[in-house]
Amino acid sequence: MKALEGVRILDFTHVQSGPTCTQLLAWFGADVIKVERPGTGDITRGQLCDIPAADSLYFTMLNHNKRSITLNTKDPSGKAVLEEMIKRCDVMVENFAPGALDRMGFSWERIQELNPAMIVASIKGFGPGPYQDCKVYENVAQCTGGAASTTGFRDGLPLVTGAQIGDSGTGLHLCLGIVTALYQRTKTGRGQKVSAAMQDGVLNLCRVKLRDQQRLARGPLEEYSQYGEGVEFGDSVPRAGNDSGGGQPGRILKCKGWEDDPNAYIYFITQAPVWEAICDVIGEPGWKTDPDYATPKARLPRLNEIFARIEEWTQTLNKFEVMDILNSRDIPCGPILSMKELAEDPSLRATGTVVEVEHPVRGTYLSVGNPVKLSDSPTEVLRSPLLGEHTYEILSEVLQFDDQAIARLQESGAIGEPAKIAAE
Ligand code: COA
Repeated sequence: MKALEGVRILDFTHVQSGPTCTQLLAWFGADVIKVERPGTGDITRGQLCDIPAADSLYFTMLNHNKRSITLNTKDPSGKAVLEEMIKRCDVMVENFAPGALDRMGFSWERIQELNPAMIVASIKGFGPGPYQDCKVYENVAQCTGGAASTTGFRDGLPLVTGAQIGDSGTGLHLCLGIVTALYQRTKTGRGQKVSAAMQDGVLNLCRVKLRDQQRLARGPLEEYSQYGEGVEFGDSVPRAGNDSGGGQPGRILKCKGWEDDPNAYIYFITQAPVWEAICDVIGEPGWKTDPDYATPKARLPRLNEIFARIEEWTQTLNKFEVMDILNSRDIPCGPILSMKELAEDPSLRATGTVVEVEHPVRGTYLSVGNPVKLSDSPTEVLRSPLLGEHTYEILSEVLQFDDQAIARLQESGAIGEPAKIAAE
């Protein structure tokens, strides 16, 4: 049995943020029914395509373990089908542009009328306020949530990160809200609205920078490199390059081969409790007792010099050799792993964090599996559905429509053609 077995999700999500949330729910065992527009479906099916006529990796990697029904929810008979689904599902998840669900005729009040136990979970770009009506994508959220202003180097542009903290990050937040609401419903019997704004999600992940903003009002941020470099602070948290976000100074340092390999680097942390071990490893035993180096406070203005010395040592070895030596002495570090290295990593394959998935049109592809492991609810990653693959199955089994009713829906154009492969 799976943790969320018996929970049925009406998945009205598209692109990335919403689908990451419903994919997690599916991995935890919920029956996730993805409602898509006939003909086109989720726009990502056709974006960044690498194999002609196959659903893109963008789509397949975000929609595992779901069923797909095609339904024109603006058509009167399509709306009637959606109403029946609302009555039979536990949770509706959506990330349409603000107001789209209301325009379709499914306001919170209407959904409550149809099913007072339904949880309606929404992702929007912004919460209530001046920007509430804006459409938002990943990088907009990174820029407006505090990530971009605090990422990059002091003398460069604000930077967005490769980690999709706006989309996938908010999907995670929403997922937690949904399971929490499901838990509360076991006591109240009532549904509720669950909202996660992408700006809020990014700001939550940038919490430490808001911490530093307040510390800045009381003096310079001594653990930032610019302090040691004698550069004055302005009135807001600066970009801090690869400085550690916490109290243990860290940097990315070159390893052997960095001239040719863009990822021959390691993140090195000068954690205070292992300072003596660091001094031994890099061949500076005198720094253990020298008052200029012996305490964290004394080291702060000298971090550039200290990391330059450590880098002299890291450059003599490749990143994995550095890691082996440091790990054996409990010194925290992180080699910069490329996507190629991660894709090929046998330990990630063994835990199911990287999985190979079989798809009838595209063949075998790699995906990230469920990063959250439950001992009593293991995840089996199943391929994403083809567009409308389960339309007939859902109409007949979940809604108990007979063949004539389904034929009428097909004639009216409210449901699309079933996917070719499914039909075969
Ligand atoms: N049948 C009929 N119509 C459908 C449908 C279906 N099955 N599914 C969607 N639609 C309609 C919607 O009702 C909407 O119609 P309307 O504009 O007439 O009200 C229309 O399709 C387009 O939806 P919308 O959400 O506006 O898509 P978009 O491509 O213009 O915008 C986003 C995309 C992501 C910018 C926008 O959805 C958004 O801001 N979402 C919230 C934030 C978010 O999640 N962003 C990150 C995405 S990774």
